[in-house]
Amino acid sequence: MKQEVLVGLSERQKQLPCKYFYDAHGSQLFEKICSQPEYYLSRTELAILEEEAAAMIAWFHQGSLIELGSGASLKVRHLLAALPGRGRDITYVPVDLCEPALRRAALALTGLYPELALHGIIADYTEGWKFLEETASPRLITFLGSNIGNFRPDICKDFLTGLRSRMNPIDRLIVGFDLVKEKSVLEAAYNDSHGVTEAFNRNILTVINRELGGDFDPAAFEHDAFYNEAAQQIEMHLSASRPMTVSITGIPMRVSLATGETIFTENCRKFTRESVADLARQTAFKLVRWWSDSRQWFALAEFLPADNGGC
Ligand code: AVI
Repeated sequence: MKQEVLVGLSERQKQLPCKYFYDAHGSQLFEKICSQPEYYLSRTELAILEEEAAAMIAWFHQGSLIELGSGASLKVRHLLAALPGRGRDITYVPVDLCEPALRRAALALTGLYPELALHGIIADYTEGWKFLEETASPRLITFLGSNIGNFRPDICKDFLTGLRSRMNPIDRLIVGFDLVKEKSVLEAAYNDSHGVTEAFNRNILTVINRELGGDFDPAAFEHDAFYNEAAQQIEMHLSASRPMTVSITGIPMRVSLATGETIFTENCRKFTRESVADLARQTAFKLVRWWSDSRQWFALAEFLPADNGGC
């Protein structure tokens, strides 16, 4: 963390890795974001899952259902409910960094699906794929919630290429992508009227203060989230409302900001069917199935290893 914060805040465009949003308070704020009327992403993805789960999973009779970033394992319930044979020969493998969340989710699921084997893995999937060795093929790997959009393009490709290199030809991957749409809809989703996204954005400074002995004044920063059409991404920044020098004793470092200077905290990429198909091609996958809502606001895409021989 020290190294990432040191490097990020030393760059010309100061930046912080978005993973530091998610302390306990940040995770609660994110849950609250998901229920804001403007934040259509979670709701739309859930509706697609409700509608299409049976088609998505009809082929899957045995093996491992692996959910990357499983959290409370709520979305996956639609897939579990649609499993052929009630999941008798399936092991559900939630993968998350947060052990308490994993335990809570596991407990709730064993009550609901007594026949399902469950093997939780505490791991940071952005740090490598070694944990996949603990799971049996065929694997259905899910990466939902548009989390893929929070990777920079180069990191996104490395992530998918790394995952692909650990997959067998019979394994499949389902990824949730938020789609390009009207700017006003996108910007409203990241500027909700109750100020929850604003609080979520500022919380990253509280995390730096606590973890690294910083003296950021979160109230001295404005939330700034806008759609960059050229890059097809929402960019979230924190903009200094006055000149300031912040000290972070745990690194140690001092950071000076001028009025209006920003810290780039998150990019949320938006995709089209073409850009998803390109991404699949560039990472040795092929896009084989695509499920979307009637407004084409969100999509779940199924990727197969490109050498799988067809579907
Ligand atoms: C977690 N991730 C998919 C969210 C997104 O929409 O990119 C994070 C978020 N940031 C602000 N609002 C939601």
